[in-house]
Amino acid sequence: MRYCEESKQNRRGSVRVAVIALMAVLAIVALAFAFWPRDEEQSSENSGAGEKSTDDAGEKSGADTSMSSLPYFEPENQSRYDAYLAQNATLAPDDAVWMVNANLDKVRYVDYVVIPDPSDLNVLVNKYNQLPADYVPDDLVEIDQTKMKAVAAEALRKMQADAKTAGLTFIAQSGYRSYSYQNGLYEGYKKTDPEGADTYSARPGFSEHQTGLAVDINKTVSDLSDFVGTPEADWVYGNAYRYGFIVRYTEANTDITGYMSEPWHIRYIGVAHATKMHDEGIDSYEEYAAKHMSQ
Ligand code: DAL
Ligand code: ZN
Repeated sequence: MRYCEESKQNRRGSVRVAVIALMAVLAIVALAFAFWPRDEEQSSENSGAGEKSTDDAGEKSGADTSMSSLPYFEPENQSRYDAYLAQNATLAPDDAVWMVNANLDKVRYVDYVVIPDPSDLNVLVNKYNQLPADYVPDDLVEIDQTKMKAVAAEALRKMQADAKTAGLTFIAQSGYRSYSYQNGLYEGYKKTDPEGADTYSARPGFSEHQTGLAVDINKTVSDLSDFVGTPEADWVYGNAYRYGFIVRYTEANTDITGYMSEPWHIRYIGVAHATKMHDEGIDSYEEYAAKHMSQ
């Protein structure tokens, strides 16, 4: 009986200890639950305030960061990039970089340079880059009714031959033009069409025709607008790069070049560059030159 009483007391003691232990465990679990960060809190800690600060940093320096990592970024142009982006709010930073490098933030025919090496096959001639008035290519050869630099004429003959096998014919209508000839053309247009002349005629010294590397092609000698929309024009647009030519003035690059679309005006830049430009889907020579030829 005593034994029974003792063992009863022992059992009571054990139950008390077990209850206390259980309560302690429950208290620990409750505390852990109360203070353990939940999923949303965890993510907001990692990417909420944290993300905001990353975003803030991105907003402040994102443009700079993405611009400066571009291979054609030029640190000395930073303030021009910033100004150009400020003026063109919808422009992507990387576009602002090549556009400024191409001097598109400058005033056409006012802020221009005289090209130091006009005989370079990859020379960029536009409203910001003028050929010396006395520059004449030294290897002009005859092709159809005009002249071109030898390398460009050879490439055009090859292109004409391949087009012919596809049942298409076109001729070189106007290739090399001297500074004085271009001057006469421009002045003529300017008299009859003072507002529009600059959208289709280069001022003297600013025409690619003076390099001997550009040519206007047409089905027969006639108004160049006759070439627009012909199967020949389509074929040339799709295949010219294989021969080293680009269609220089397109509908898509009008704002860049300052000229209306001229599907007849092709420019020789060599097969490697023309193919790269085609493969990268770059529409203007300004963009290609700014991205790949500026250094
Ligand atoms: N028509 C082109 C732009 C030129 O005059 O050179
Ligand atoms: Zn032309």
